[in-house]
Amino acid sequence: MAEGAEPEIRIVADADAASGVAAELTAARLTEAVAARGRADWATTGGSTPIGMYRVLMQPPTLDGVPWADIHVWWGDDRFVHRDHPLSNVKPLDDVLLGIGRTEEGTAGGAVEVPLPAGNLHPFPTGEAIGRGLGADWCAAQLAATLRSDGPPALDGWPVFDLVMLGMGGDGHVLSVFPGSTAPASAELCLAVPAPTHIEPHVERVTMHPAVIGAARQVLVVATGAGKAAVLAEVFGDERDPGRWPAQLARIPTATWILDEAAAAGLPD
Ligand code: 6PG
Repeated sequence: MAEGAEPEIRIVADADAASGVAAELTAARLTEAVAARGRADWATTGGSTPIGMYRVLMQPPTLDGVPWADIHVWWGDDRFVHRDHPLSNVKPLDDVLLGIGRTEEGTAGGAVEVPLPAGNLHPFPTGEAIGRGLGADWCAAQLAATLRSDGPPALDGWPVFDLVMLGMGGDGHVLSVFPGSTAPASAELCLAVPAPTHIEPHVERVTMHPAVIGAARQVLVVATGAGKAAVLAEVFGDERDPGRWPAQLARIPTATWILDEAAAAGLPD
């Protein structure tokens, strides 16, 4: 791999270890941001990546050490489904961190909830858009307006998140920016994305513009499993073509990549 302005890459044993490191870094970055600026803006992700991390975040001492009341949570992308739909990128946080829908027995079993005020959660308003028949373009425009009014300060027009967390698809996509996407050329802060046909789930998406990756103070990419090895070898190969491998947009010095050994197997030395 070429020397220079590269991200930090941390290789750990397995997905559980990746969740632990991701939770530790997330807690640290959010806590530092609140100390420095009075609030933290965190864009989280979907897929399976954040679920293990949320579970670690809700354990003491991490749970008690994070200033949750000053943390604002956004989603870099979402599927155009209701928030309680199994495909929603918001549902894992609702379920795991906030304990929404948890049974009484589960609560009595020692589960805790993260004290994140409901007003600090800023998902794409998919449910309202669907319910009112307004469509994914409206949904994306609404979140863009919320970002401008209530989001982190912008630099060159793009919001500067304290932390953008990303998973990576087996095709090398990040956010809902798929290979060949026209999103990078758009001037819109948030966009509707037609349902991809090459990768599941085949549902329409909404996404932030990928410029938020480069603008963020810290980017955290988590990729685990042998299914990510081939594309990671391309992402960290000599050829730079983020149109083909959008994850290369996070091959930047402000990013930390947390990989397990299976995913990292094909990386160049
Ligand atoms: C999608 C996926 C995707 C996901 C990555 C990583 O909507 O296409 O949810 O964006 O974040 O594929 O997924 P894993 O965390 O499950 O590896």
